[in-house]
This record gives sequence, C-alpha cells and structure tokens, in this order.
Amino acid sequence: MILDIINKKRLGEELTYKELDTFFNGYLEGTIPDYQMSSLLMAICINGMSDEEIFALTKIFIDSGDVLEFAGIDGIKVDKHSTGGIGDKTTLVIAPIVASLGIPVVKMSGRGLGYTGGTIDKLESIPGYRIDLSDDEIMNQIKDINVVITGQTACLVPMDKVIYALRDVTATVSSIPLIASSIMSKKIAGGADKIIIDIKVGNGALLQTREEADKLSELMIKIGKVYDREVRTIISDMDAPLGYSIGNSLEVLEAIDVLEGKERDNPFVDLCIELASHMVSMGKNISLEEAKKLVIGSIEDGSAYQKFLELVKHQNGNIQKIKVSENTVTVKAKSSGILKKINALELGKLSLALGAGKEKITDKIDYTVGIKLSKLIGDSVKKGDVLATIYYNKKKPDVSYDKIFVIQ
Ligand code: URA
Repeated sequence: MILDIINKKRLGEELTYKELDTFFNGYLEGTIPDYQMSSLLMAICINGMSDEEIFALTKIFIDSGDVLEFAGIDGIKVDKHSTGGIGDKTTLVIAPIVASLGIPVVKMSGRGLGYTGGTIDKLESIPGYRIDLSDDEIMNQIKDINVVITGQTACLVPMDKVIYALRDVTATVSSIPLIASSIMSKKIAGGADKIIIDIKVGNGALLQTREEADKLSELMIKIGKVYDREVRTIISDMDAPLGYSIGNSLEVLEAIDVLEGKERDNPFVDLCIELASHMVSMGKNISLEEAKKLVIGSIEDGSAYQKFLELVKHQNGNIQKIKVSENTVTVKAKSSGILKKINALELGKLSLALGAGKEKITDKIDYTVGIKLSKLIGDSVKKGDVLATIYYNKKKPDVSYDKIFVIQ
C-alpha cells in the first residue's frame, strides 16, 4: 500500500484524500520512515499535485493540530506571511502599524532555518523578549494592546513542523504545492479572517521565477476560497536584500528606525507600507488608498512606534539592551559608478557564515553579528566609499566582493 502510493505519484497520477491521509499521518505517528516520506515528497516535487490533492493536503495539515479561534477578539483578524528572504524584517514594522490603527494582530512567527534568523529569532535579540506566550496570555495581551508577536505553539499544525524539517534536508522545499499547503494551513489554523501573502522571487528566495510566483499566488487564493478567507498576494523582489541590515539585532534596530520615521523612500519601507496598507484595507474594509494614508500617518504621528514600544514592554523586552558586535570590518567600493547589484543570496551565505542564521536546528544564533549596507541599488558611489560594514565575532569574514557588488 505504501509503496503503491509512492509509485502512483512517481508516475504522475493523482492521489486520493485517503492515500494522502494514510501517508502523512503515518509519518507523523512514526509508522512511515523518513526514507519513504522523502521519496513521496520528491515525487510530489517533480510531478506536482492537482488542486484537489493540494486542498486535501492542506486539510490534513490543519487537522493535525488545534485550530485557534480567538473568538473573544473583536474585529477582523488580519495576518501576513512572507515566503522568506534576506533581510526580511517587515513583520516587526507592519504589526505595530496595523495594531496602532485599531486592527488586532496576533502574529505567530517562526524561526529561520537557512541563511538568516526568522522573525522570532530577530525578536529574541531584544534581551528579555518572551516568544512563548500561552493562549491565555495572547488573549489578554490582545485585549490590552491589540498586538502580539509570539512563537508558533506546538499544537499549531504539528504536521508542518515535521514535514518542513524533512523538506529542508531533502531538497524538496521549493515545491509549489508543498509551500502552498504549508503556509495556508498555518494561516487558517492560526485563526486569521483575512490574509496577505508576500511572495518573494529572486536569487535569495525559494522561488526563482515570476511564473512560479504567479502559480503559488493563484493556489493560495484558491485555498483561501475553500476556507472562506480573503487572501491577497503581492509578489516582491528578492534579488537584492530588503533594506540596509541583515542579521538579528541589526534588523530590529533598522525596524525601529523605520517606525521612528528615520528611514524612508527605499524599497524596504515601500514594501512595509504596501503590506500594512493591504492589512488595514482588509481589516477596516476600506480602499487601499485610504489605508495607505492611515499607515503613513501612523508612522508620522509616532503612534506605530509607540505601539512597538508597548509590544516589547508587554513581552518583557528591553530595546536599550540590544547589542551588536564591536568587531567590524568595512567593505569599500573598488570603483566609481552606480551600484547596480547587491546579491541577496551571497549576503545570505555571508550572514550564515557569521552566525546570524542556523545551518542545523541545533546551531546557536549569534544575535550580534550581521551586515549593514551603507548604499542601496541605484546609489552613485565613489571609489573608496563604504558599501557595507560587517559585524563579526568568531573570525574575520571573507567577503566575496565581486560576487556581491556590481558597480557600473
Ligand atoms: N514558508 C513556510 O512556512 N512554508 C514553506 O513551505 C515555505 C516557506
């Protein structure tokens, strides 16, 4: 039976709900070994899945754990997810903006595996910040201040935790049906009424082409319809890193700069405003233009930053104690011209080598290391200008300048 299921998918045939349920739940319960699950995942990766199979798999994922209701929370609950990228600290900026405008934000974020930390790792770089709130604490905090960013509870889609860990080590992460089921199951089980997904495309992202991103977008919207949730998607560039900073403490400090209105008019700030505007538009049932005015206003009048401070205080963090390494090296421009490229993937690899991300689940993150860019794409530079500062601890980093920067 198990071999028949693998064989069927190997031949590109459609699996039934029962076959998928038997296989995936067998894996979760430990009766199906890693090698058979890996084989099925690879067959899915190569041959894809029909919409019916994807809906079935999403349901199997959701049913593997609890579905959070947050019934006591007034208002439309809006959630956001990013497929992940280098320097992506948008949640830290968006959640306080949206909450400051009266929309409840319960954000359950994950850790990073791969090049950089996830949102939860970034928040843990704020000394004292608690990422393990209980359901009761979440409810109380939402009632008090309208915003929570905490870790995913163990009972939220446990199937995704085990399957994602296996996908990560079997080169099956980039399968579009598997990404769609993984993300949508967590959003639906997490109790969101409306969802915005930021699909990243580029060399520092899971997806490399616009066609793949369009396919994923279409699928997520269809899954949302099955569960009666409004899903919007945006497709954004990940050939260059997002913003100036990569690395946990550095990214929190950059998010603070944006919330304080110190950093403006760059693609990272534009993306935060766009995503937050979608959330506010969905949460208040208003047009995107109206929402955008409110979002910009919440940064300009300081209310978004105040909300961030309330959030950190409620979760015990102290931003005065955020540390970055004192060991730095600068990277200087080798020629004059316009900065044409900053390679996200290479900077991701560098940040991993510095210790800002994890290669294995058991690795320990160094929150204080990372990369701070001084120039962004399109800036004009003179030979000798500082392009980036590298914060390191373990050993002085090797920077592959020619792979990272292109000046023309
Ligand atoms: N993010 C997720 O949560 N799941 C995936 O499969 C890919 C990105």
